[in-house]
Amino acid sequence: MVYKIAIDGPAGSGKSTVTQLLRKKMGYKTINSGNIYRAITYILNKKFGEVDLTGEIVINFINNLKIKMVKDDLYYDGVNISPFLRTKKIDDLVSEVAKPLYIRKKAGLLQLEFIEDSESGLIIEGRDIGTNVLPDATLKIYLDADAKVRAKRRFNERPEVSYQKTLDDILARDLSDKTREHGRLIIADDAVVICTDNMTVEEVVENIYKIFNEKI
Ligand code: C5P
Repeated sequence: MVYKIAIDGPAGSGKSTVTQLLRKKMGYKTINSGNIYRAITYILNKKFGEVDLTGEIVINFINNLKIKMVKDDLYYDGVNISPFLRTKKIDDLVSEVAKPLYIRKKAGLLQLEFIEDSESGLIIEGRDIGTNVLPDATLKIYLDADAKVRAKRRFNERPEVSYQKTLDDILARDLSDKTREHGRLIIADDAVVICTDNMTVEEVVENIYKIFNEKI
């Protein structure tokens, strides 16, 4: 039996850090689905620049797109593109790219491809994992935090962008992710919601680990 943990939540809620610590603790395979949307965004931007996502050429390109995952890194055309995915530019573009259904379907297929060889357990983080990608997950967590707390965390990571701009960007991405037509960020009915405002990452990890062990 492969245990599956879904971790959803808005930008800056701590999903990636928590997921990495859980991986260390549990030895499970992890997938950062946000990186898949970021990879698609990066590739589209490189190939087409500002692009009309409804165009047939783009749709065909996406349908035939091949991305490989080796360890945690994503490869396109033999090149490791992971170092280029967590930039301000990709932050600004990714939520629009994550909207159309054909792109969400492609990202979903890639996630399934990447989890195929998982033997121990699996943790996927993202926005629609508990609702769409792993509806049968053993445990669904929804990590949340006040937008100001999330902006502060991001600002500490990337102080080159001002705190106010960081907050504005987070609010814009929240709105887009929560209101889009497909794969919107909502709390799954059976998810456990953890508000991390006043918690350290270690506390969040311990909490999830405890809930998981009580559940299995
Ligand atoms: O988690 P991260 O901030 O890297 O995700 C980047 C963007 O990718 C999100 O703002 C969202 O628009 C999109 N995304 C998504 N569905 C997921 C994961 C990410 O739409 N499962």
